[in-house]
Amino acid sequence: MSRFITFEGGEGSGKSTQSRLLADALRARGIDVCQTREPGGSPTAEQVRQMILSGAVERLGPVTETLLLYIARGDHLQTTIRPALSHGEWVICDRFLDSTRAYQEHAGEVAPDLIRALERAVIADTWPDLTIILDIDPREGLKRAVERNPDSADRFESADMAFHEAIHAAFRTIARNDPERCVLIDAQRTPEEIADEIWNAVAARLQPGGEG
Ligand code: TMP
Repeated sequence: MSRFITFEGGEGSGKSTQSRLLADALRARGIDVCQTREPGGSPTAEQVRQMILSGAVERLGPVTETLLLYIARGDHLQTTIRPALSHGEWVICDRFLDSTRAYQEHAGEVAPDLIRALERAVIADTWPDLTIILDIDPREGLKRAVERNPDSADRFESADMAFHEAIHAAFRTIARNDPERCVLIDAQRTPEEIADEIWNAVAARLQPGGEG
């Protein structure tokens, strides 16, 4: 049976590494995995990603940015995520709805009502079964993100520290408010230790290989 897992967290929290390690662990158990990301994950959504991360839409304000993210999310769901789920694959997505809640709603102050309405209309019942939130001190995370990519601080990586503190607090609040769906994982350890804890959470909640 298919499953939908999302990874969330601030800059430099290790989401990409950990989604790859989880995908490898699932594939090693014979499970078909579709590994994807947001913004992006389909040709149209990747174009929107370029527009947003380059800063080209920043002057249009956070509401327009949110609408664009949801246009991209709708296309990604339609062309990548729902087809994979309907073929029985496990979908692992690097960022999804909680990034919009953290970045645009909590830090960007877009009205929660608008975001809830977009969630209902666009995500509908394609809700993640499990969301892994990687928790890292924002200073440490940004240091890692810049070390990884010194020349291309994108629009979000170059925002000030107060913004990143707000994102950090927002992800913690999201995890606290929805413990059924979300697990908060301490990301200030070795990649192997983090991967083990993620695997334990996935095994306990989603029983990979045991669902028949
Ligand atoms: P990343 O995938 O390399 O972390 O970069 C994506 C950036 O886009 C990151 O800074 C967070 C931001 N973002 C939002 O602001 N809202 C969203 O809904 C998503 C998916 C990403």
